[in-house]
Amino acid sequence: MCGIVGYIGNKQAYNILIKGLKRLEYRGYDSAGIAIINQGCKIFKKQGKVSELDALVKSKNLHGTIGLGHTRWATHGEPNDTNAHPHESMHKKFIIIHNGIIENYTRLKKRLEDRGYKFKSDTDTEVLVNLIEYIYIKGKLDAETAVRLALSKVVGAYGLVIACTDEKDKLIAARKGSPLVIGVGEQEYFLASDATPIVEYTKSVIYLHDDDMAVIGRNGMSLRNLKSTKIHKKPIIQKLELDVDKIEKNGFAHYMLKEIHEQPRSIKDTFRGRLRPDVNALKLGGLHYVMKDIIHAKRIIIIACGTSYHAGLVGEFLIEEFGRIPTEVEYASEFRYRDPIIYESDIVIAISQSGETADTLAAIELAKSKGATVVGICNVVGSSIPRATMGGVYTHAGPEIGVASTKAFTTQVTVLIMMAMEIGYKNGAIKEEQYSKLIKELSLIPEKISTILKQGDYIKEISAIYKDATNALYLGRGYLYPVAMEGALKLKEISYIHAEGYPAAEMKHGPIALIDENMPVIIIATKDKSYEKIVNNIQEVKARKGIVIAIVTEGDNTISSMADHVVEVPDTEFALAPLLTVIPLQLFSYYIAVMRGCNVDQPRNLAKSVTVE
Ligand code: G6P
Repeated sequence: MCGIVGYIGNKQAYNILIKGLKRLEYRGYDSAGIAIINQGCKIFKKQGKVSELDALVKSKNLHGTIGLGHTRWATHGEPNDTNAHPHESMHKKFIIIHNGIIENYTRLKKRLEDRGYKFKSDTDTEVLVNLIEYIYIKGKLDAETAVRLALSKVVGAYGLVIACTDEKDKLIAARKGSPLVIGVGEQEYFLASDATPIVEYTKSVIYLHDDDMAVIGRNGMSLRNLKSTKIHKKPIIQKLELDVDKIEKNGFAHYMLKEIHEQPRSIKDTFRGRLRPDVNALKLGGLHYVMKDIIHAKRIIIIACGTSYHAGLVGEFLIEEFGRIPTEVEYASEFRYRDPIIYESDIVIAISQSGETADTLAAIELAKSKGATVVGICNVVGSSIPRATMGGVYTHAGPEIGVASTKAFTTQVTVLIMMAMEIGYKNGAIKEEQYSKLIKELSLIPEKISTILKQGDYIKEISAIYKDATNALYLGRGYLYPVAMEGALKLKEISYIHAEGYPAAEMKHGPIALIDENMPVIIIATKDKSYEKIVNNIQEVKARKGIVIAIVTEGDNTISSMADHVVEVPDTEFALAPLLTVIPLQLFSYYIAVMRGCNVDQPRNLAKSVTVE
């Protein structure tokens, strides 16, 4: 939700900022803006993509070695040039870029209006920059003090960077609830919402924590906690484990397609150092200190949003089947607001690709406040959720830039499979023989995914037939029901076709009324104990002239003779089938979206990282 980037150093800032914004565009793409501070301050803002801003500004030859850039996902005020960031204060003393929400902005705005302040935009951010200026002028303060005092009056979330035209050689950055990273170079500093705009310049980074405020000059910086009386904190410089080629498209037409194809590799990265089929072993080091509590837990609660929630649903089945511990899955946004019953003995597993989803973070804090043990499954190293939890497992999927999650889902499920096996093995719910079999089968998954990916052209042909569909229904049973939900979500997100994912047996209680000769029904029906039942479901669809696209186990002649199209996936343990069956669904949505002319990597109204509630 909004990407912010800042630079202070000895290079020209414009190219660094615009390149950084392009890297951060997955966080928001309804408008973008840039400010370069030289003798004065030049600000350019444009509704639309970063490329449109670049086309507007490039020819202007902006000079200056300090600057700010922002790509927006609108919360307050429609996406237009005026509401785009950076925002400047009324007397032009301060310029700000902000990611987050100022919840008490209406009250603050009214107070400022009573004191003569006028506003150009509808944003909460313009209120904040004017509040800082008001405090600065009225109190005859320095910029740092004015920012600190203004932030003490703010309720809400922010990752922000501020420049002051009276104190030109510095940038001030602060965070509460929205991520911010500082890249430390040679006499230069980079600021960004995540490390992707920074990695090609430096691998030394400082992750700001909540309530941190940094004052950054060309030759040094200081860090303080906004709440504490102690003025300075020692910045902890960390080494960035990220390579530039991991954030390029590397010849693929879209990030989403690249990320779909990366899955054999990303799952191997999830295994690395953990799954050892050669010695029949599994180790999850990040859970070492909490595993004892987990295996004896009376209840596990999984919290997540979006695709991560679907991975959580698979996790529920896994943990109950292999660990025999009652498990519940909840949308973090529901969990946090309904005063849930949480016991100190509960284990809460928070799943998040970004590690920054606001609702998931708030749900974690709630669970912690009730004494539960909270662990995380996250992709982005050093993000807020791993820092807020007591242990966890990184998926190590590498940066996921396409807004529609693909490799995040399969790597999260991979971690959940390993967790469930580990729990079951340690608490005696599964025996050596089954454990060994699962280890072996799991280790074969990357190769099996590679064989499914080879069917890309065939799936593209099927997609071409249904690209103009207006509705689609996805059905699955057991482990494949969450896969049906995930398949439907993918189609909705990127091709804007209405789609629903349902447990196949529930079809009879509603969705069957929708089925006619125009309705593609995607049925995920690999061989398992409910296979016969799903064959019946296929017949029910066919009896109503519905179109059936079936995802089946290799060599399945029964369904092949009934369905309009079949996509085969290699055989595996049923519990591992989500990892294989989701791949054709990802490709199906991708090709349909491309054929419909949709912007696959940046679907309308969505953002990769939802850092607002
Ligand atoms: C957004 C993204 C989804 C993602 C969800 C949860 O809606 O567009 O792809 O699944 O947030 O994000 P998280 O980073 O917590 O997994």
